[in-house]
Amino acid sequence: MTIAIHESALIRHFNTRKEVLRAWEEKIGARFSPFRGFKMPDSRLYIEDSDFLDSIVDLIITNERHVFIRGPVGSGKSTLMLLALRDLPTLADRKGNKFITGYVGMTGLYEKQMASAIADSLRIKYRRSWESSQIIDAVAKESLRRYIEEQSRTALFIEDVADNQEAAFHKLRFLADLPTEEMIDVYAGALDEPIFTLVMSGTMIYWNAMLSFLPQIADRTEPLDVPPLNDAKAREFIGRRIAYAQGQIDSFDSENFSVYPFTEDAVKVINVAAKGNPRDIRMLARGCQQVAAENFRNSGNPGVTREIAELVSEAYATLLKEVQ
Ligand SMILES: Nc1ncnc2c1ncn2[C@@H]1O[C@H](COP(=O)(O)OP(=O)(O)OP(=O)(O)O)[C@@H](O)[C@H]1O
Ligand SMILES: [Mg+2]
Repeated sequence: MTIAIHESALIRHFNTRKEVLRAWEEKIGARFSPFRGFKMPDSRLYIEDSDFLDSIVDLIITNERHVFIRGPVGSGKSTLMLLALRDLPTLADRKGNKFITGYVGMTGLYEKQMASAIADSLRIKYRRSWESSQIIDAVAKESLRRYIEEQSRTALFIEDVADNQEAAFHKLRFLADLPTEEMIDVYAGALDEPIFTLVMSGTMIYWNAMLSFLPQIADRTEPLDVPPLNDAKAREFIGRRIAYAQGQIDSFDSENFSVYPFTEDAVKVINVAAKGNPRDIRMLARGCQQVAAENFRNSGNPGVTREIAELVSEAYATLLKEVQ
């Protein structure tokens, strides 16, 4: 009996909360919450940092080092990988080589899962019954063939690289070292540079783990720190999401847009608290929406003021401290 009462109270609470949020969204002409998390975010929501993106792509093209996109959780590592993946197939290196790209987004992989994921991502055929070393061997051979016959280097993107089994990790080392001595002997003269570039992502902790456990790769890898969003970019992040929820993203003008119902001050407060981390900006903006929606119900004003942003930022900081 008591349980039933609790349940209905809870359901009532959630329904009221939903209605309050919905009313605020309606008021600003949004069809859904501008700050909801999307599994596959629409690329029209991306804020591009072309300088940083160029530095990633330049490093790959120069072909001297592997790349490690380094940053805290939610800083935008995966987003940057997707942007680099978009650009790379349209480019060539200074020798005129084109690029074939693969992307491994899953983590927690065992050796064989990793080998299969790599082959799949590069569209290289193998048999299910093969051992992981046979699969990796097929990847190496096909990458070599693509380099020699199609003048194409291979760039393999691997997310959160240290989140896989250690044995899986060692498979990567073999690819990172291509061409092998044997290949160089066979193709005397034609193989005087690496043919396989790794573009990895991870946090500072994982980078340090790689330094100590896989120095052979780390020594030849350039870590690039994802820059935080500055205030102007944070403003665009919020502006784009609002326009998207209003169904107006296609006429979004990054030179001239409004962040209504957020005030300019509120956006700055949010970005200071988020330290330019896009995931945190989204979480804080969503918290602000909740408070502003309650306010809207009581006062009829949907605005996200500096006071609301400060309140939410403080609550968020406390929450993060408790989690850590
Ligand atoms: N440049 C950007 N423009 C717009 N949104 C961004 C940008 N970078 C990141 N985001 C958004 O911030 C969130 C986190 O980004 P992303 O998943 O790329 O970070 P990450 O560093 O890969 O995080 P994790 O460590 O959890 O894998 C996503 O909702 C993403 O859409
Ligand atoms: Mg990621």
